[in-house]
Amino acid sequence: MNKKLVVGNLKMNPVSPVEFGRYLDMLEKETKHKDFAKTEIVVCPPAIYFRQFLDRKFKNVKLGAQNVFWEYQGAYTGEISAGMAKASGAGYSIVGHSERRKYFGENEEAANLKLKAILKNGLRAVLCIGESMEERKGGQTDSVLKSQLKGSLSGIGAGKIECVDIAYEPIWAVGTDKLPTTDEILEAKIIIKKALAEMYPKKRMEKIRLLYGGSVKSYSIGQVCLEPAMDGVLVGRESLEPYEFIKIVKIVDDN
Ligand code: PGA
Repeated sequence: MNKKLVVGNLKMNPVSPVEFGRYLDMLEKETKHKDFAKTEIVVCPPAIYFRQFLDRKFKNVKLGAQNVFWEYQGAYTGEISAGMAKASGAGYSIVGHSERRKYFGENEEAANLKLKAILKNGLRAVLCIGESMEERKGGQTDSVLKSQLKGSLSGIGAGKIECVDIAYEPIWAVGTDKLPTTDEILEAKIIIKKALAEMYPKKRMEKIRLLYGGSVKSYSIGQVCLEPAMDGVLVGRESLEPYEFIKIVKIVDDN
């Protein structure tokens, strides 16, 4: 059976190495001497803090990148490559996040190129997909999720797909405190599974973990993860509070 997965996306936080040090102190306190047997924990801080994270030598928390560029090296000011992230200790990278799409104009093609680079460099990927509120209201959720999946996964063969986890993140739920109902998540899950079934053999598909992301809090884990039987969650704001983040991990791990 697959382990469950809880990913913390710290986004552009905390604001200084000193603050990140405090964050790590709290994360250490919450995870030390604890065994989360059924759940993998990944924290994705800004890449500038990778070394500081690794220096703590966490046994049960892995390191992930929030974003990488698809080229291997060269004149791409401000970017880091998947190979650099891997060589600097990351085991995962998020790709296709709605904030990358919104603020940096990333589309399926970019997500696809990044995904290929992530997999080529031996990282695992957490691919984010999700519809906007207009798309949901216009009855387009099904077609949007399908085209995001098909576009992002184009050329990713069956041999590589087990290194990809997929997070269903409705754009309208990210950073808003709005939550989809359990039924809405179940519907999305069915759409995703159907689309994947058209692309991959069943055996491979079973390895892909499906997460929910968007305004996750410990008190809503039942609604967004346990009841729709998701394989874990992608947590934004709440991952900035180690106590709350690990509370979420514990609930996922215990169920
Ligand atoms: P949020 O972010 O939990 O703050 O809504 C989720 C995400 O960015 O994946």
